[in-house]
Amino acid sequence: MPDACPPPGATKKKLYIETVGCQMNLLDSELVVGKLRNDGYELTDDIGQADTILYNTCSVRQHAEDKIYSALGRIKNLKREKPHVSIGVLGCMAQKDQGAILKRAPHVDVVIGPGQLGRVSELLELAKLEGTPKLAVSLPRTAGSRDSVTASFAEYDPLREPLMRPSPFQAFVRIMMGCDKFCTYCIVPSVRGPEQSRPPDAILEEARTLVDQGVREITLLGQTVNSYKHAGLDGRQTRLADLLERLSAIDGLGRIKFLTNFPNDMTEDLLQAVRDLPKVSRYLHVPAQSGCDEVLKRMKRGYTIGLYEEMLARIRAIVPGASVSSDFIVGFCGETEDSFRKSCDLVERSRFKNSFIFKYSPRLGTKADTLLIDDVSEESKKRRNAELLAIQDAISVEDHCAFVGRTVEVLVEGPSKTASADPAPGDFGQLVGRTWCDRIVVFEGPGRLIGQFLPVEVERASTVTLYGRARTLEAVAGGVQGI
Ligand code: SAH
Ligand code: SF4
Ligand code: F3S
Repeated sequence: MPDACPPPGATKKKLYIETVGCQMNLLDSELVVGKLRNDGYELTDDIGQADTILYNTCSVRQHAEDKIYSALGRIKNLKREKPHVSIGVLGCMAQKDQGAILKRAPHVDVVIGPGQLGRVSELLELAKLEGTPKLAVSLPRTAGSRDSVTASFAEYDPLREPLMRPSPFQAFVRIMMGCDKFCTYCIVPSVRGPEQSRPPDAILEEARTLVDQGVREITLLGQTVNSYKHAGLDGRQTRLADLLERLSAIDGLGRIKFLTNFPNDMTEDLLQAVRDLPKVSRYLHVPAQSGCDEVLKRMKRGYTIGLYEEMLARIRAIVPGASVSSDFIVGFCGETEDSFRKSCDLVERSRFKNSFIFKYSPRLGTKADTLLIDDVSEESKKRRNAELLAIQDAISVEDHCAFVGRTVEVLVEGPSKTASADPAPGDFGQLVGRTWCDRIVVFEGPGRLIGQFLPVEVERASTVTLYGRARTLEAVAGGVQGI
C-alpha cells in the first residue's frame, strides 16, 4: 500500500525528471521516482505539463554542469509563467555547488545532494509551504570525524521504480557508496562521500526482490566495485568474489555484471570467481586513465603501466575470452606529446573492447586544480581525444570482425534504437541484446524474445555493434559459445 495515497479523484502531481551522469545517477533517479510515485506523483515526459521538474546532475566534467545550467536557464520563463511549478537540482552538482546554484538560478526550489535524496518529497513540500528554497547537502569530507561525514551520506533505500529501469529485465544494485581513492583530477570523493560497502544480506535481499519482479540481469555498482569488503558481526569478511557466489545461487537470476573496477584490486580470487560462476558476465571495465607513468603519478592512481599490464595479463590468463574496457583522460596537467603517445601505445597493445575517452576538465577543489597547471590547450585535448578514439575504434572493429560466423548467446534487452519503442509479443522487428562479454548484438525477431537468452549467429560487424540472425536453441544445441 502506498503510504500517502492521494484522495480518490484527486489529480496526481506530474513529475518530469532528467538525469545526466553515471549509472549511480540512473539508479538514484529510479529511487527518487519510486518514492515520489508512492507519494502521489506520476511521471510525464512533457516538461510543459509538469508540476515538478527535477534534474539529477553530474559534476565529473564542466560540460555536464554546463548542460544543467543551460537547462535551468531555459525553464526560467516557464517558472515565471507558472510559479506553482517546483524545480529541483539533485545529485552531484547539488553537493558541489550548493547555495551557488540558487544564486545563479533563483527560480530553483530545492537543491539536494546525493546523500540526502531520501528527503526530496519532504523538501519539495516544505519549499512550497514556506515559499523559500531548501538546501540539503552532506558534510564536506574534511568536516568532523569520518563517522559523522559518512553518516551525512545516508543510504537511500526506498521502493524501486520498474518504469525507470534500463529495461524490465535489467536493474542496477548499489553495493558500494562513495570513494576514498582521491585521484587528483576527480570530484567524485567530494560529492559522493566516504567509501562504504553495503551489508551483503541487504544486497541479496534487494536482488531477490528484483528477480521476483522479473529482473534477469543485475549490474552491481560501485566507484571501485572490486574493492568491496564488508565485515560481519562475526568478523568474517565478504569480498566481491563471495558476493558473486551468493548472488549466483538466486534462482531466476540469469546474469550478473559489475562496474567499475580499480586496477589494483583486480585480485586472483575475483577473476577465478568470474571464470567459475557461469552467471557472471565476462566483461571487466578497468580504467587505465593514462599510458604514461609520470601522468599516472600526477593523477595519484597508485599503479604504474607495468602493474596495469600485469593485471591485464592476469585477466587474460584466468578468464580467457573476457573483454576488457577502459577510460582515458587526455590532456591532463603536464601531458606531453610523448606521454600521450604512451596512451596510444597502451591502447594498441591492450586490445580493449572499447575505451571511453575524456578531455581533462579541471574540477574546483580537487588536488590537480589546486596544485597542478591545466597546461594542455583545448585544441590539443580535442586532437588527442580524436586520435586515441580512432586507434581504439580500429581495434574494436577488427575484434568485432572476428565474431562474424560465430554464434553467441545474448540476453535480449528490447527493441533496437531504430525499431518501434514498445513491440507487442508477436511483432517482428529489430531487437538488441548483449553477449556475455557485453558486446551489443542487433538482429530481427519477435517482441516475445525480449528478456530471454538466445543464440544469435553473427553475420556482420561494426565498431560498436554485431549484426546477426537469431537461431533456435535446437538448431545450435551444444554449439553456442558463452561469449
Ligand atoms: N570510479 C571510476 C570512474 C568514475 S568517473 C573509476 O575510478 O574508474 C568516470 C570517468 O570520468 C573516469 O574514469 C575518468 O576517466 C573520467 N573523469 C573523472 N574526472 C575527470 C575530469 N576531471 N576530467 C575528465 N575526465 C574525468
Ligand atoms: Fe574518481 Fe579515482 Fe574514485 Fe574513480 S577511483 S571515483 S576516478 S577518485
Ligand atoms: Fe557524475 Fe556523480 Fe556519477 S559526478 S559520474 S554522477 S558519481
